[in-house]
Amino acid sequence: MAFVNDNYLKLKAGYLFPEIGRRVSKYASDNPTAKIIRLGIGDVTEPLPSAIIDAMHRATDEMGKRETFRGYGPEQGYDFLRNAIAKNDFTSRQANVSPDEIFVSDGSKCDTGNILDIFGSENVIAVTDPVYPVYVDTNVMAGRTGAADESGRYARLVYLPVTAENDFTPSLPDRKVDLLYLCYPNNPTGTVATRATLKKFVDYAKANDAIIFFDAAYEAYITDPSIPHSIYEIEGARDVAIEFRSFSKTAGFTGTRCAFTVVPKGLAAKSANGESVDLHSLWNRRHTTKFNGVSYIIQRGAEAVYSETGRTQVRSMIDFYLENAAILCRGLKAAGLVVHGGVNAPYVWLKTPGGMTSWQFFDHLLGKAHLVGTPGSGFGAAGEGYFRLSAFNSRANIEEAVSRITSLLR
Ligand code: MLT
Repeated sequence: MAFVNDNYLKLKAGYLFPEIGRRVSKYASDNPTAKIIRLGIGDVTEPLPSAIIDAMHRATDEMGKRETFRGYGPEQGYDFLRNAIAKNDFTSRQANVSPDEIFVSDGSKCDTGNILDIFGSENVIAVTDPVYPVYVDTNVMAGRTGAADESGRYARLVYLPVTAENDFTPSLPDRKVDLLYLCYPNNPTGTVATRATLKKFVDYAKANDAIIFFDAAYEAYITDPSIPHSIYEIEGARDVAIEFRSFSKTAGFTGTRCAFTVVPKGLAAKSANGESVDLHSLWNRRHTTKFNGVSYIIQRGAEAVYSETGRTQVRSMIDFYLENAAILCRGLKAAGLVVHGGVNAPYVWLKTPGGMTSWQFFDHLLGKAHLVGTPGSGFGAAGEGYFRLSAFNSRANIEEAVSRITSLLR
Protein backbone atom coordinates (compact mmCIF):
# COMPACT_ATOMS: atom_id res chain seq x y z
CA MET A 1 0.00 0.00 0.00
CA ALA A 2 1.24 3.48 -0.81
CA PHE A 3 1.86 6.04 1.93
CA VAL A 4 -0.18 9.20 2.43
CA ASN A 5 1.17 12.59 3.41
CA ASP A 6 0.71 12.19 7.17
CA ASN A 7 0.66 15.95 7.63
CA TYR A 8 -2.89 15.95 6.25
CA LEU A 9 -3.92 13.83 9.22
CA LYS A 10 -3.03 16.72 11.54
CA LEU A 11 -5.69 18.97 9.97
CA LYS A 12 -8.34 19.71 12.58
CA ALA A 13 -11.56 19.57 10.54
CA GLY A 14 -12.77 19.95 6.98
CA TYR A 15 -11.88 23.25 5.30
CA LEU A 16 -14.08 25.89 6.94
CA PHE A 17 -16.35 26.87 4.05
CA PRO A 18 -17.20 23.37 2.77
CA GLU A 19 -17.88 22.46 6.42
CA ILE A 20 -20.35 25.34 6.73
CA GLY A 21 -21.84 24.36 3.36
CA ARG A 22 -22.35 20.81 4.62
CA ARG A 23 -24.17 21.99 7.77
CA VAL A 24 -26.34 24.41 5.81
CA SER A 25 -27.27 21.77 3.20
CA LYS A 26 -28.31 19.42 5.99
CA TYR A 27 -30.39 22.15 7.60
CA ALA A 28 -31.98 23.04 4.24
CA SER A 29 -32.90 19.44 3.50
CA ASP A 30 -34.40 19.02 7.00
CA ASN A 31 -36.26 22.36 6.67
CA PRO A 32 -37.23 22.63 3.00
CA THR A 33 -39.46 25.70 3.48
CA ALA A 34 -36.78 27.82 5.19
CA LYS A 35 -35.72 30.80 3.05
CA ILE A 36 -32.02 30.75 3.83
CA ILE A 37 -29.89 33.86 3.25
CA ARG A 38 -26.20 33.08 2.87
CA LEU A 39 -23.75 35.65 4.23
CA GLY A 40 -21.11 33.03 4.98
CA ILE A 41 -18.45 32.54 2.33
CA GLY A 42 -17.37 35.80 0.72
CA ASP A 43 -18.57 34.98 -2.76
CA VAL A 44 -19.64 37.78 -5.08
CA THR A 45 -23.24 37.91 -6.31
CA GLU A 46 -23.35 40.76 -8.84
CA PRO A 47 -22.93 39.83 -12.53
CA LEU A 48 -19.70 40.75 -14.32
CA PRO A 49 -19.69 44.33 -15.66
CA SER A 50 -20.41 44.69 -19.39
CA ALA A 51 -16.92 46.05 -20.20
CA ILE A 52 -15.44 42.75 -18.97
CA ILE A 53 -18.03 40.59 -20.73
CA ASP A 54 -17.54 42.50 -24.01
CA ALA A 55 -13.76 42.02 -23.82
CA MET A 56 -14.19 38.29 -23.19
CA HIS A 57 -16.62 38.02 -26.14
CA ARG A 58 -14.10 39.72 -28.43
CA ALA A 59 -11.36 37.40 -27.19
CA THR A 60 -13.61 34.38 -27.73
CA ASP A 61 -14.17 35.45 -31.33
CA GLU A 62 -10.40 35.76 -31.81
CA MET A 63 -10.00 32.19 -30.62
CA GLY A 64 -12.41 31.07 -33.37
CA LYS A 65 -10.33 32.48 -36.22
CA ARG A 66 -7.14 30.93 -37.58
CA GLU A 67 -5.31 34.30 -37.78
CA THR A 68 -5.99 35.25 -34.17
CA PHE A 69 -6.22 31.84 -32.48
CA ARG A 70 -3.81 31.32 -29.56
CA GLY A 71 -2.53 28.17 -27.94
CA TYR A 72 -0.33 28.18 -24.83
CA GLY A 73 0.27 31.70 -23.59
CA PRO A 74 3.18 32.89 -21.46
CA GLU A 75 2.90 31.12 -18.08
CA GLN A 76 3.47 34.42 -16.27
CA GLY A 77 0.62 36.16 -18.10
CA TYR A 78 0.28 38.18 -21.29
CA ASP A 79 2.19 41.47 -21.43
CA PHE A 80 -1.03 43.43 -22.07
CA LEU A 81 -2.33 42.40 -18.64
CA ARG A 82 0.96 42.63 -16.75
CA ASN A 83 1.52 46.13 -18.14
CA ALA A 84 -2.00 47.23 -17.19
CA ILE A 85 -1.58 45.88 -13.65
CA ALA A 86 1.83 47.50 -13.11
CA LYS A 87 0.61 50.89 -14.35
CA ASN A 88 -2.79 51.01 -12.64
CA ASP A 89 -2.26 49.12 -9.41
CA PHE A 90 1.29 50.13 -8.55
CA THR A 91 2.88 52.99 -10.54
CA SER A 92 -0.22 55.14 -9.99
CA ARG A 93 0.31 54.70 -6.23
CA GLN A 94 4.04 55.40 -6.30
CA ALA A 95 4.71 51.71 -5.66
CA ASN A 96 7.63 50.48 -7.67
CA VAL A 97 6.60 47.22 -9.37
CA SER A 98 7.57 46.36 -12.95
CA PRO A 99 5.42 44.20 -15.28
CA ASP A 100 7.94 41.34 -15.26
CA GLU A 101 7.65 41.07 -11.46
CA ILE A 102 3.96 40.17 -11.84
CA PHE A 103 2.87 36.53 -12.19
CA VAL A 104 -0.73 36.14 -13.39
CA SER A 105 -2.49 33.11 -11.92
CA ASP A 106 -5.87 31.51 -11.33
CA GLY A 107 -6.29 32.66 -7.73
CA SER A 108 -4.73 34.05 -4.58
CA LYS A 109 -5.90 31.09 -2.53
CA CYS A 110 -3.80 28.84 -4.79
CA ASP A 111 -0.86 31.25 -4.83
CA THR A 112 -0.67 31.71 -1.06
CA GLY A 113 -0.52 27.93 -0.74
CA ASN A 114 1.75 27.31 -3.73
CA ILE A 115 4.34 29.89 -2.67
CA LEU A 116 5.35 27.52 0.13
CA ASP A 117 6.88 25.21 -2.51
CA ILE A 118 9.90 27.48 -2.79
CA PHE A 119 10.51 27.82 0.96
CA GLY A 120 12.25 25.28 3.19
CA SER A 121 10.33 23.23 5.72
CA GLU A 122 12.40 24.55 8.65
CA ASN A 123 10.98 28.08 8.36
CA VAL A 124 9.12 29.41 11.40
CA ILE A 125 5.78 30.88 10.36
CA ALA A 126 3.72 33.66 11.96
CA VAL A 127 0.04 34.24 11.29
CA THR A 128 -2.49 36.60 12.79
CA ASP A 129 -5.27 35.02 14.83
CA PRO A 130 -8.03 35.00 13.55
CA VAL A 131 -6.70 34.36 10.05
CA TYR A 132 -7.74 33.24 6.57
CA PRO A 133 -7.53 29.47 7.17
CA VAL A 134 -5.65 28.71 3.94
CA TYR A 135 -2.40 30.14 5.35
CA VAL A 136 -2.51 27.77 8.31
CA ASP A 137 -3.82 24.66 6.56
CA THR A 138 -1.30 24.82 3.71
CA ASN A 139 1.53 25.01 6.23
CA VAL A 140 0.09 22.04 8.08
CA MET A 141 -0.10 20.10 4.80
CA ALA A 142 3.50 21.02 4.02
CA GLY A 143 4.72 19.74 7.40
CA ARG A 144 5.72 23.07 8.92
CA THR A 145 3.66 22.57 12.08
CA GLY A 146 3.24 20.09 14.87
CA ALA A 147 -0.13 18.82 16.08
CA ALA A 148 -3.09 21.06 16.95
CA ASP A 149 -4.10 21.65 20.56
CA GLU A 150 -7.65 21.77 21.97
CA SER A 151 -8.21 25.31 20.71
CA GLY A 152 -7.06 24.36 17.20
CA ARG A 153 -3.67 26.09 17.44
CA TYR A 154 -0.79 24.18 15.84
CA ALA A 155 2.57 23.68 17.50
CA ARG A 156 5.44 25.58 15.83
CA LEU A 157 3.17 28.29 14.40
CA VAL A 158 3.49 31.73 15.97
CA TYR A 159 0.08 33.34 16.46
CA LEU A 160 -0.41 37.11 16.59
CA PRO A 161 -3.84 37.81 18.12
CA VAL A 162 -6.00 40.52 16.55
CA THR A 163 -8.99 41.31 18.76
CA ALA A 164 -10.92 44.33 20.00
CA GLU A 165 -8.45 44.49 22.94
CA ASN A 166 -5.58 45.49 20.63
CA ASP A 167 -7.80 47.35 18.19
CA PHE A 168 -7.23 44.55 15.64
CA THR A 169 -3.58 45.56 15.24
CA PRO A 170 -1.16 42.66 15.62
CA SER A 171 1.93 43.03 17.78
CA LEU A 172 5.26 42.08 16.28
CA PRO A 173 6.25 38.44 16.92
CA ASP A 174 8.02 38.09 20.28
CA ARG A 175 10.66 35.88 18.64
CA LYS A 176 12.40 35.54 15.31
CA VAL A 177 10.13 34.19 12.57
CA ASP A 178 11.04 33.58 8.93
CA LEU A 179 7.72 33.92 7.11
CA LEU A 180 4.90 36.16 8.19
CA TYR A 181 1.40 36.42 6.68
CA LEU A 182 -0.50 39.71 6.69
CA CYS A 183 -3.88 40.21 5.02
CA TYR A 184 -5.15 43.79 4.66
CA PRO A 185 -7.94 44.83 4.42
CA ASN A 186 -8.29 41.92 6.74
CA ASN A 187 -10.18 38.74 6.18
CA PRO A 188 -12.01 37.95 8.46
CA THR A 189 -12.17 41.05 10.70
CA GLY A 190 -12.72 43.64 7.95
CA THR A 191 -10.19 45.96 9.64
CA VAL A 192 -7.24 47.73 8.02
CA ALA A 193 -3.53 48.31 8.66
CA THR A 194 -2.23 51.84 8.80
CA ARG A 195 0.96 52.91 7.08
CA ALA A 196 2.67 52.95 10.51
CA THR A 197 1.63 49.36 11.25
CA LEU A 198 2.88 48.11 7.89
CA LYS A 199 6.14 50.02 8.32
CA LYS A 200 6.63 48.36 11.71
CA PHE A 201 6.28 44.92 10.08
CA VAL A 202 8.56 45.81 7.17
CA ASP A 203 11.21 46.98 9.63
CA TYR A 204 10.79 43.78 11.67
CA ALA A 205 11.19 41.68 8.51
CA LYS A 206 14.34 43.57 7.57
CA ALA A 207 15.86 43.20 11.01
CA ASN A 208 15.04 39.46 11.15
CA ASP A 209 15.67 38.45 7.52
CA ALA A 210 12.02 37.47 7.31
CA ILE A 211 9.69 37.51 4.31
CA ILE A 212 6.18 39.00 4.53
CA PHE A 213 3.39 37.38 2.50
CA PHE A 214 1.02 40.30 1.98
CA ASP A 215 -2.47 39.34 0.84
CA ALA A 216 -4.21 42.41 -0.57
CA ALA A 217 -7.20 40.62 -2.12
CA TYR A 218 -9.59 43.24 -0.68
CA GLU A 219 -7.58 46.41 -1.42
CA ALA A 220 -10.28 47.77 -3.76
CA TYR A 221 -12.58 48.16 -0.75
CA ILE A 222 -10.35 50.71 0.99
CA THR A 223 -12.28 53.96 1.38
CA ASP A 224 -9.88 55.76 3.74
CA PRO A 225 -7.27 57.58 1.59
CA SER A 226 -4.59 57.27 4.26
CA ILE A 227 -4.59 53.45 4.13
CA PRO A 228 -2.02 51.85 1.78
CA HIS A 229 -3.38 49.51 -0.93
CA SER A 230 -0.08 47.77 -1.54
CA ILE A 231 2.73 46.90 0.84
CA TYR A 232 5.09 48.32 -1.78
CA GLU A 233 3.81 51.78 -0.84
CA ILE A 234 5.93 51.27 2.29
CA GLU A 235 9.62 52.14 2.06
CA GLY A 236 11.82 49.05 2.06
CA ALA A 237 8.98 46.58 1.35
CA ARG A 238 10.46 45.43 -1.96
CA ASP A 239 13.32 43.87 0.01
CA VAL A 240 11.07 41.81 2.25
CA ALA A 241 7.60 41.24 0.77
CA ILE A 242 5.66 39.17 -1.73
CA GLU A 243 2.19 40.52 -2.52
CA PHE A 244 -0.92 38.58 -3.57
CA ARG A 245 -3.74 40.28 -5.47
CA SER A 246 -6.94 38.98 -6.98
CA PHE A 247 -9.67 40.01 -9.41
CA SER A 248 -12.15 37.87 -7.44
CA LYS A 249 -13.49 40.45 -5.03
CA THR A 250 -12.20 43.46 -6.98
CA ALA A 251 -14.05 42.70 -10.20
CA GLY A 252 -16.37 39.77 -9.51
CA PHE A 253 -14.02 37.01 -10.77
CA THR A 254 -14.64 34.36 -8.08
CA GLY A 255 -16.05 32.03 -10.74
CA THR A 256 -13.97 33.43 -13.61
CA ARG A 257 -10.58 32.99 -11.88
CA CYS A 258 -7.78 35.49 -12.30
CA ALA A 259 -5.27 36.81 -9.79
CA PHE A 260 -1.61 37.74 -9.60
CA THR A 261 1.41 37.58 -7.34
CA VAL A 262 4.25 40.08 -7.19
CA VAL A 263 7.72 38.77 -6.46
CA PRO A 264 10.16 41.69 -6.64
CA LYS A 265 13.47 41.07 -8.36
CA GLY A 266 16.26 41.08 -5.82
CA LEU A 267 14.11 39.66 -3.03
CA ALA A 268 16.16 36.81 -1.56
CA ALA A 269 16.22 34.00 0.98
CA LYS A 270 19.04 31.61 1.79
CA SER A 271 19.81 28.03 0.76
CA ALA A 272 20.84 25.29 3.20
CA ASN A 273 24.50 26.18 2.61
CA GLY A 274 23.85 29.83 3.45
CA GLU A 275 23.95 31.26 -0.08
CA SER A 276 21.53 34.00 -1.01
CA VAL A 277 18.96 32.79 -3.58
CA ASP A 278 16.81 35.05 -5.77
CA LEU A 279 13.13 34.30 -5.07
CA HIS A 280 11.84 35.79 -8.33
CA SER A 281 13.81 33.23 -10.36
CA LEU A 282 12.78 30.41 -8.05
CA TRP A 283 9.08 31.31 -8.25
CA ASN A 284 9.39 31.67 -12.03
CA ARG A 285 10.87 28.14 -12.11
CA ARG A 286 8.04 26.78 -10.00
CA HIS A 287 5.32 28.68 -11.89
CA THR A 288 6.52 27.66 -15.37
CA THR A 289 6.86 24.02 -14.30
CA LYS A 290 3.54 23.58 -12.55
CA PHE A 291 1.27 26.11 -14.28
CA ASN A 292 0.34 26.80 -17.90
CA GLY A 293 -1.16 30.23 -17.53
CA VAL A 294 -4.63 31.73 -17.29
CA SER A 295 -6.73 31.52 -20.44
CA TYR A 296 -6.37 34.33 -23.00
CA ILE A 297 -10.11 35.07 -22.83
CA ILE A 298 -10.04 35.58 -19.07
CA GLN A 299 -6.90 37.72 -19.22
CA ARG A 300 -8.58 39.98 -21.79
CA GLY A 301 -11.51 40.24 -19.36
CA ALA A 302 -9.12 41.18 -16.55
CA GLU A 303 -7.43 43.77 -18.75
CA ALA A 304 -10.84 45.40 -19.31
CA VAL A 305 -11.08 46.06 -15.56
CA TYR A 306 -8.56 48.86 -16.18
CA SER A 307 -10.33 50.39 -19.21
CA GLU A 308 -12.17 53.66 -18.64
CA THR A 309 -15.61 52.01 -18.74
CA GLY A 310 -14.41 48.95 -16.85
CA ARG A 311 -13.02 51.08 -14.07
CA THR A 312 -16.29 52.98 -13.64
CA GLN A 313 -18.38 49.81 -13.68
CA VAL A 314 -16.13 47.95 -11.25
CA ARG A 315 -16.10 50.96 -8.91
CA SER A 316 -19.88 51.05 -8.80
CA MET A 317 -19.99 47.31 -8.03
CA ILE A 318 -17.58 47.77 -5.13
CA ASP A 319 -19.56 50.77 -3.89
CA PHE A 320 -22.69 48.61 -4.01
CA TYR A 321 -21.09 45.96 -1.74
CA LEU A 322 -19.68 48.67 0.54
CA GLU A 323 -23.17 50.14 0.91
CA ASN A 324 -24.38 46.63 1.82
CA ALA A 325 -21.66 46.52 4.48
CA ALA A 326 -22.72 49.94 5.78
CA ILE A 327 -26.37 48.79 5.98
CA LEU A 328 -25.27 45.70 7.91
CA CYS A 329 -23.13 47.76 10.31
CA ARG A 330 -25.85 50.35 10.97
CA GLY A 331 -28.58 47.73 11.39
CA LEU A 332 -26.59 45.45 13.65
CA LYS A 333 -25.45 48.33 15.85
CA ALA A 334 -29.04 49.53 16.14
CA ALA A 335 -29.98 45.98 17.18
CA GLY A 336 -27.47 46.29 20.02
CA LEU A 337 -24.54 44.32 18.62
CA VAL A 338 -20.89 45.35 18.85
CA VAL A 339 -19.65 45.57 15.27
CA HIS A 340 -16.20 45.99 13.68
CA GLY A 341 -14.95 46.25 10.10
CA GLY A 342 -17.30 46.83 7.18
CA VAL A 343 -15.97 50.30 6.29
CA ASN A 344 -12.87 49.48 4.22
CA ALA A 345 -13.81 45.86 3.61
CA PRO A 346 -16.77 43.70 2.59
CA TYR A 347 -16.76 41.86 5.93
CA VAL A 348 -18.50 42.77 9.17
CA TRP A 349 -17.06 41.24 12.33
CA LEU A 350 -19.41 41.19 15.27
CA LYS A 351 -19.19 40.13 18.89
CA THR A 352 -21.60 37.28 19.54
CA PRO A 353 -24.41 38.36 21.87
CA GLY A 354 -25.10 36.94 25.33
CA GLY A 355 -21.71 35.23 25.63
CA MET A 356 -22.58 32.64 22.97
CA THR A 357 -19.68 30.80 21.34
CA SER A 358 -19.22 31.41 17.63
CA TRP A 359 -20.74 28.04 16.66
CA GLN A 360 -23.64 28.48 19.12
CA PHE A 361 -24.45 31.79 17.42
CA PHE A 362 -24.10 30.12 14.01
CA ASP A 363 -26.70 27.49 15.00
CA HIS A 364 -28.95 30.10 16.63
CA LEU A 365 -28.90 32.35 13.56
CA LEU A 366 -29.45 29.48 11.15
CA GLY A 367 -32.16 27.80 13.23
CA LYS A 368 -34.08 30.93 14.28
CA ALA A 369 -33.47 33.40 11.44
CA HIS A 370 -32.37 31.16 8.56
CA LEU A 371 -29.24 33.23 8.17
CA VAL A 372 -25.78 31.85 7.45
CA GLY A 373 -22.61 33.56 8.62
CA THR A 374 -19.14 32.33 9.49
CA PRO A 375 -18.19 31.46 13.07
CA GLY A 376 -15.18 33.50 14.17
CA SER A 377 -13.59 30.49 15.86
CA GLY A 378 -13.33 28.86 12.40
CA PHE A 379 -10.64 31.47 11.66
CA GLY A 380 -8.64 30.75 14.81
CA ALA A 381 -8.81 30.53 18.59
CA ALA A 382 -8.81 34.33 19.03
CA GLY A 383 -11.89 34.48 16.79
CA GLU A 384 -13.95 32.66 19.43
CA GLY A 385 -16.88 34.82 20.48
CA TYR A 386 -16.91 36.63 17.13
CA PHE A 387 -18.91 36.09 13.96
CA ARG A 388 -18.38 37.22 10.36
CA LEU A 389 -21.06 38.41 7.97
CA SER A 390 -20.26 38.98 4.32
CA ALA A 391 -21.68 41.97 2.44
CA PHE A 392 -21.72 40.05 -0.84
CA ASN A 393 -25.42 39.65 -1.58
CA SER A 394 -28.40 41.45 -3.10
CA ARG A 395 -29.63 44.63 -1.41
CA ALA A 396 -32.95 42.94 -0.65
CA ASN A 397 -31.23 40.03 1.11
CA ILE A 398 -28.98 42.34 3.14
CA GLU A 399 -31.98 44.37 4.31
CA GLU A 400 -33.90 41.20 5.07
CA ALA A 401 -30.92 39.85 7.03
CA VAL A 402 -30.79 43.00 9.17
CA SER A 403 -34.49 42.80 9.83
CA ARG A 404 -34.30 39.12 10.82
CA ILE A 405 -31.38 39.74 13.21
CA THR A 406 -33.17 42.73 14.71
CA SER A 407 -36.28 40.61 15.39
CA LEU A 408 -34.18 37.79 16.77
CA LEU A 409 -32.41 40.03 19.28
CA ARG A 410 -35.48 41.98 20.31
C1 MLT B 1 -13.91 33.99 2.43
O1 MLT B 1 -15.11 33.90 2.57
O2 MLT B 1 -13.13 34.12 3.39
C2 MLT B 1 -13.35 33.96 1.05
O3 MLT B 1 -14.35 33.85 0.10
C3 MLT B 1 -12.47 32.84 0.88
C4 MLT B 1 -11.66 32.96 -0.35
O4 MLT B 1 -11.54 34.02 -0.96
O5 MLT B 1 -11.09 31.93 -0.70
